[in-house]
Amino acid sequence: MSTSNVAIGSAAVSGMWVELDAKIRSHEAQVGVIGLGYVGLPLALTFKNAGFTVAGFDVDTRRVSELRSGHSYITDIPDAEVGEAVASGKLLATDDLNRIAEMDAVIICVPTPLRKTKDPDLSYVLSAVEAIAKGLRRGQLIVLESTTYPGTTEELVIPRLEETGLRVGEDFFLAFSPERVDPGNKKYPPSRIPKVVGGATERCAQLAALLYAQCIEEVMTVSSTRVAEMVKLLENTFRSVNIALANEIALMCAHTGIDVWEVIKAASTKPFGFMPFYPGPGLGGHCIPIDPIYLLWKARADGFPLRFIDLADEINSGMPRAVAIRAMQLLNLQGKAFKGARVHILGVTYKRDISDIRESPALEIIKLCLAAGAELFYSDPFVPVLSVEGRRFESLPVSPEVLRQCDLAMIVTDHSSFDYRLIADHAPLVFDTRNASAGLRRPNIVRL
Ligand SMILES: NC(=O)c1ccc[n+]([C@@H]2O[C@H](COP(=O)([O-])OP(=O)(O)OC[C@H]3O[C@@H](n4cnc5c(N)ncnc54)[C@H](O)[C@@H]3O)[C@@H](O)[C@H]2O)c1
Repeated sequence: MSTSNVAIGSAAVSGMWVELDAKIRSHEAQVGVIGLGYVGLPLALTFKNAGFTVAGFDVDTRRVSELRSGHSYITDIPDAEVGEAVASGKLLATDDLNRIAEMDAVIICVPTPLRKTKDPDLSYVLSAVEAIAKGLRRGQLIVLESTTYPGTTEELVIPRLEETGLRVGEDFFLAFSPERVDPGNKKYPPSRIPKVVGGATERCAQLAALLYAQCIEEVMTVSSTRVAEMVKLLENTFRSVNIALANEIALMCAHTGIDVWEVIKAASTKPFGFMPFYPGPGLGGHCIPIDPIYLLWKARADGFPLRFIDLADEINSGMPRAVAIRAMQLLNLQGKAFKGARVHILGVTYKRDISDIRESPALEIIKLCLAAGAELFYSDPFVPVLSVEGRRFESLPVSPEVLRQCDLAMIVTDHSSFDYRLIADHAPLVFDTRNASAGLRRPNIVRL
């Protein structure tokens, strides 16, 4: 390439950059969000609330039409917010992926689950990238937010987008920015959770950071997409490993008759060097049980063993079984067989005050209880109907009459709307796996 061509080329690049930069600053940039789930929908609304016109893309036509009719399928987001956003014309929900080409900035928020073999399933990311590649044009900014192993952006996304003949950092811009949303957490809406951004090039990072800075209070730029990808996996591996430690200590404490909750509460008074993590019936949701396995897979592929992740996974995924066995022992101590016992599960979502049951430990506990012959009932204000092992259950009201009829009430999810005093007053035996009944001293309550 001659010097003048380089000069023309870089002038064109900086022209494109300046144009996108100005559009972002003036909020005239069209923002597209691919995948309108727990992550994508709140993010789309965050950009809309900052004054951008946002198009949300989803292949699930049912979700698209629900949004168009002003209905939110995510507990945290009220119907009114979606209805107002759609009616104002500032949020468009569509399954027409051809319109991605019209966007100035495109953010990918599609699922990254595991295959049955526990290998990363990047098919959703790849199909979203495919849809972008079809209409990729000069001057577009693409950001991947889906959680994935370090190297995904460089090894999978860049090659596919560059097959179009366009060059990253020259013709289009690309970054990775991990999603850190915490569903159900009112204290930290997306705008208040600091955002980490790593670009494929410095310019890519600058543009992506500028975009997020329009609606997120704090943005931190790191040196590469790999670092940004690794940040998310470190965060969730940290949680998984520490929860596993709390779980193992809880099992040991139960074995020796020590109240683990009292221990954690007292240890938490230390103002440095200790951070409380709590035991529970097992991990759930789309993040903590899955993300560390992405890292494990990558480490193994690179020939590096990551022992903490394996061990934490083993302990955490064994918790539903440990909880079910304990429930059997508790009934046994009362002279009751588990077979035929009426077991009432309180809360089936993977954590409190949300409606998400993905990977919820309650499902595994229910399966184990059914396999052991228990008669099963459940209550969950967020899940009116539940299917497990081909059986359909309906949520029951948490009333004195219902509670009196069970042999064991098991608190699996500590929803704040449950009346724990009422539960303790009327259930003959309560097994509390979340310490939701803290403060109630009753002989019929047993804690994990
Ligand atoms: N849920 C969380 O709390 C959370 C928190 C942090 C990070 N994450 C990560 O964010 C990503 C998204 O998670 P989520 O919980 O929002 O998932 P989700 O299943 O709630 O939503 C994903 C949406 O993407 C849509 N989709 C799938 N493939 C598509 C495609 N090719 N084009 C358009 N739409 C498509 C699906 O129909 C679905 O509506 C995952 O990588 C997850 O690990 C999730």
